Amino acid sequence: MLKSEHIAVIGAGLMGHGIAQIFATQGYQVRLMDLKEEILDKAIENIRSNLTLMAQHGIGRLNEIESIIARIKRTVDLKEASSDAQFIVEAISENLELKKNIFNELDAICSEKTILSTNTSVISITEIAQKALRRDRILGTHFWNPPYLIPLVEVVRGQDTSDEVMDITIDLLRKVGKHPVRVNKDVPGFVANRLQHALWREAISIVEGGIADATTVDECVKYGFGLRLPVLGPLENADMVGLDLTLAIHEYVLKYLESSPEPSPLLREKVNRGETGFKKGHGFYKWTTDQAKELTKNLKEHLLKWTREREGN
Ligand code: NAI
Repeated sequence: MLKSEHIAVIGAGLMGHGIAQIFATQGYQVRLMDLKEEILDKAIENIRSNLTLMAQHGIGRLNEIESIIARIKRTVDLKEASSDAQFIVEAISENLELKKNIFNELDAICSEKTILSTNTSVISITEIAQKALRRDRILGTHFWNPPYLIPLVEVVRGQDTSDEVMDITIDLLRKVGKHPVRVNKDVPGFVANRLQHALWREAISIVEGGIADATTVDECVKYGFGLRLPVLGPLENADMVGLDLTLAIHEYVLKYLESSPEPSPLLREKVNRGETGFKKGHGFYKWTTDQAKELTKNLKEHLLKWTREREGN
């Protein structure tokens, strides 16, 4: 896609503002749409602050920020946002009915060639596309938070998505510096959340079973196999140690691992008691506001440092 072409981002919340930032930073004209002017103003404020923090860490320049922001036009009108867009990312609230309706509207408003993508975390792409007539141009682009720092985008094929639409989307995401991956089947959790939650299920089960406490579980990841993960994925790791050893380990250990299809009772109890984590000061750990802020800051610093190194700055 050419930089003269328009990208529309529908929904300017946590994910939408960051997605708009990615395309505008790479020179695209962006239309950012939400229900209220105040939400759009806040989105622009957030983009300015993200870009400032990035520039302070050597990613981009402070004197480029206003021209990036000038490429983002705000609107509360879906038609104005999308009628001349060549590529649209929907990032509205995670609600199937809302998403179905908006794709139905977009399908009617946009030209036949416009690609329509959804940033849903878990909802079926095929269901979201259900009310649209041109379902071949609808697909999933699952960005990760914060989208301007995490490179991965899962590009998910719905039941009717065409090969051409998959290819154009992957090409566009590469052009704007993302790391798109192709997900061939529209399954719950796509790929990365299946992997992530398989690990979380086992982590919670270990605490629930009294095998180790939460700190120990987290340390086993952060000071152990987690250190390899940026270089070595699980399947590369299996090849490295040998599939014969992997098979022997699985034959012995898999029957002892958590395989419940239901959320853990411990997790349910905690939520019922209001122990929902940072926001309540208590989850698997106790958190003061300062501790929660510190960990969030550390994560951002780590991602910024990693991004700077990746971009060779
Ligand atoms: P959010 O609640 O921060 O933002 C959603 C925005 O959509 C709100 O500003 C809301 O006013 C707007 N909105 C609702 N209905 C609308 C409509 N009809 N037209 C225009 N705007 C509308 O939500 P967030 O976290 O940004 O999530 C957006 C999508 O991205 C969801 O599908 C979510 O599952 C997905 N996602 C979220 C991630 C996260 O870490 N929060 C990660 C990856 C995907």
